[in-house]
Amino acid sequence: MKISVSFIKSKYNEKDTVNLIDKTDAEYVHVDLMDGKFVEHKNYTVNDIKNIVNGTNKKLDVHLMCKNPSKYIKDFASLNTEYITFHLEAVKNPDEYIKEIHSYGIKCGISIKPKTNIELLKPYLEKIEQVLVMSVEPGAGGQKFIMDSILKIESLKKLKNDLIISVDGGINDKTIDFVQAADMVVSGSYICLSDDYQAQINKLR
Ligand code: DX5
Ligand code: ZN
Repeated sequence: MKISVSFIKSKYNEKDTVNLIDKTDAEYVHVDLMDGKFVEHKNYTVNDIKNIVNGTNKKLDVHLMCKNPSKYIKDFASLNTEYITFHLEAVKNPDEYIKEIHSYGIKCGISIKPKTNIELLKPYLEKIEQVLVMSVEPGAGGQKFIMDSILKIESLKKLKNDLIISVDGGINDKTIDFVQAADMVVSGSYICLSDDYQAQINKLR
C-alpha cells in the first residue's frame, strides 16, 4: 500500500515537515489546498505551496478542497505532480476538470465526502484514475476516522477494479487495519506529530 503524507498538522513549519517526509520511504507528499469556500478554512496560495515543496524528491498527490479547481491545475502541472484530485461536491461539471487535468498528462482523482454516495461517481469512473475516499469531513487534520468509509472501498473496487482507491483522514496504526483493501492511504497527524516519521510509516506498512 502506498503512503501519501499530509503536512498540514505538524510540530514543525511546512517546509521543515516536507524535508522530514523526504527522508522517509513514503511515496507521495499530499498537498491539502483549502479555498475558504468549499471548506471554511483557507490555507495556502499556489505560491506558498511552490515554496513548501520546492526541492522535494517526492511526487505530489494534490487534494483540492476548492470550488474552482481550474484556478490551480495549471500551476500544479508545472510541479512534480502525479495526481490532482478535486471534490465531486464542489463542481458543476466534473468532465471539464477531468479533461483539463488529463491535458497536462496528470492522473485525475475525484474525492467524495463521508456522506456522499458512491453511486454519484459512476458516470466518471471510466474516465479517472483515482478516487479519494474521505474518512473525515474535509477541512482539518487530526480528526477521528469515520468507520462507514470502509464499505466504500470494496464497493468502488467492484465497480472498476483498476481504480486507485486512496483513503484520507484519521489514518493511524489502528485504523489502517480497516482499509487494507485500499491502494493508498493519506496520513497526516499520525506521522507529522511524531518524533520519528519513518517509525510511524513502518507501523502503517
Ligand atoms: C482533511 C485533509 C486530510 C487530513 C489528513 O481535510 O484532506 O488530508 O489533513 O490528516 P490526518 O491524518 O491528521 O487526518
Ligand atoms: Zn487531503
